[in-house]
Formats: sequence, structure tokens, C-alpha cells
Amino acid sequence: MDKSSNKGISRRDALKRMGLLVAGAAALGMPTALTSCSNGKKKRIILYFTATGNSLYIARQLSDENTELLSIPQMVKQGRHDFEAEEIGIVYPIYGHMPPNMVRNFIKQARIKANYKFAILTYGMLDFNAAELWDGISRKAGTKFDYINTLVMVDNWLPNFDMNEQMKMDKHIPEQVEKIKADLDRQRKWIKPATDDDRRNHDGFMFFSRLDPDVGFLKRSEKYFRVTDACIGCGVCTEVCPRGNYELTSTGVKTEGDCDFCFACIQNCPQKAIQFRSLPDDPLLARGEVNPNARYRNEHVSLWSIKESNRQ
Ligand SMILES: Cc1cc2nc3c(=O)[nH]c(=O)nc-3n(C[C@H](O)[C@H](O)[C@H](O)COP(=O)(O)O)c2cc1C
Ligand code: SF4
Ligand code: SF4
Repeated sequence: MDKSSNKGISRRDALKRMGLLVAGAAALGMPTALTSCSNGKKKRIILYFTATGNSLYIARQLSDENTELLSIPQMVKQGRHDFEAEEIGIVYPIYGHMPPNMVRNFIKQARIKANYKFAILTYGMLDFNAAELWDGISRKAGTKFDYINTLVMVDNWLPNFDMNEQMKMDKHIPEQVEKIKADLDRQRKWIKPATDDDRRNHDGFMFFSRLDPDVGFLKRSEKYFRVTDACIGCGVCTEVCPRGNYELTSTGVKTEGDCDFCFACIQNCPQKAIQFRSLPDDPLLARGEVNPNARYRNEHVSLWSIKESNRQ
């Protein structure tokens, strides 16, 4: 799984690229937001949210030595809202074509100062009006993005997709990344347009799913997930959840709390001991999941990186 995860990157470099050394500098009161670099190249900040590594992988692909990669759950944890650089990007997975709830709340509080702002939305099969939705949400929050595009990857939506089948599909990711890189290099101003059909399909999904459009996916983890006897108490779930919803107790692993429904817990449990509860009345989970024995994490992203991104 971790074939090329952190190859060739020292622990210090990895920490730096994930914004953790920067966080340390912030704690010491050192300046963290330079607008340009000593080598004259543009300084870029990329903020990301990830559960199974797709969005982190893309954030890394769009980074160079002048880029700070910052995990949104870590920024939320630190209460950091101010960001300044020549270019600032955000990379997140779409959930029902919308941003994760944590990303939505983050952008409401963030003060983003940059000449060029871009957002890359990863998805698995249908993005519909996702770019337009982000444009609306971010504008309402006071930040206008110059470039919003989407990028198709493995679909980690367990209720409908078998992860083993998804992993076999070639979604031409390098080609998509190259196109986006070329756009960013020339600071292209473009927002992926939505058609009336896209909007209708999204509205249909919202009606069917009964989600609140102002909130998106915000569930309760105790209602949706259960831990089976296969659990070995390894503690991975306590570290990969961006909400810190899992706890190792003397009577086993317990989960409770507001939940982005990101699937970091269920996908990254090495024992596949986290399963969906039976929810016959829930429109999205009524039929359970396609393959409870198949789980996914992006092949270029280590479990260590997911933990460092999300640990609360
Ligand atoms: C709650 C949830 C909702 C999702 N909704 C969509 C969707 O509307 N359209 C889509 O194409 N993919 C959807 N996906 C798939 C993810 O957007 C996609 O796999 C993404 O690349 C995962 O990124 P990550 O690995 O960084 O977490 C959804 C996944 C989850 C967990
Ligand atoms: S990740 Fe899975 S096996 Fe490990 S403690 Fe959590 S539920 Fe148990
Ligand atoms: S409980 Fe699971 S699905 Fe919910 S936020 Fe935590 S990791 Fe994501």
C-alpha cells in the first residue's frame, strides 16, 4: 500500500511539508507567512483536508520547495485563521458535491491574503456543480477564489463502491494533475462551470439524502459506526479522526461526536473492525455497504501522514 509513500523525504522534510514545523514556529512567535521566497520564486500555501489520502496526494503534487502544506484539521486545532502568501490553494474531497463540514466552517473563519487563490476538489465519480458550490460558499465567507477545478480519483464512498474495484480503475490522474499544474503556473482565472443538469442532479441528491445544504454531511459517529470483535486496540482510529471521536477504553474502543463522515476511521482501521451500523431508515446507508472487506488508502500516502494530518 505504502509503496512510494515518503520515499526520499526525511522526517524533517515531511514534517515541514505538512506544516508541522511551521506550526512549531508559530508557537514560538516566529513569522510564518512570507509573501515571497529568498530564491525569488512564488511562495505558495496549500491547505488540505483528507481522509484516505487522495487530497493530500494532490496537494503534494501541486507543491514545490516553496510550498507550505497545511492540514486544515491541524489549523482548526491550533485556532490558526490567518494565512498570507503570493498564492494560496485549498484541496479537499467533495461530499455530496459539497465541502466537508470542517472545511466549510474553516473558510468562514479564515482570513486568506494572496494575489492568487485556487481550490482543487477531488472526487470519485460525479462532481456536478461542486466548483460552483464552493465558489458560492467561499464568496459568502468573504474569500473569492480565482480558480476552482475538480479532479477525479478513487471513489472512497463505501456504501456504493467496492474499494478493490475502484483501485483497479485508471482515472488518468497524472494527466489531470499536469493540466492543473499548467493552469496554476500561469495563474489562470477559471471556475469549472456547472450546467442546469448538474444543478438539478445536485438538488435531486439533496432531496434524496435529506442533508441540510447549509451544513452538508454532519452526522454523529456513534449512530453510524460500530467496532467489532476484530478490534485489536491498535489506536489507529483515535489518531486518524479529524474530530477526535475515538477513544480506547478499558471496555474497548468507543466512538462519539459530531462527524464529517469522512471515513478516515472506517477506511484506515487495519483490522476492518469498524463497520457501518444497520440503518434501514437512512436513505444513504439503507443498503449497507458494497464490500465490508475492502478498504482504501491512497497508495502514495502513508498511514503516518494521515495520522499527522488529522490527529486531535
Ligand atoms: C461522505 C462522502 C461523500 C462523497 N460524495 C461524493 C460525491 O458527491 N461525488 C463524488 O464523485 N465523490 C464523492 N465522494 C468520494 C470522495 O470525494 C473522493 O473519493 C475523494 O477523492 C476522497 O478524498 P480523500 O482521500 O482526500 O479523503 C464522497 C466521499 C465521502 C466519504
Ligand atoms: S483502528 Fe480498528 S483495530 Fe485499531 S483500535 Fe481502532 S477499531 Fe480497533
Ligand atoms: S468518526 Fe470517522 S467518519 Fe466521522 S469524522 Fe471521525 S474519522 Fe471521519
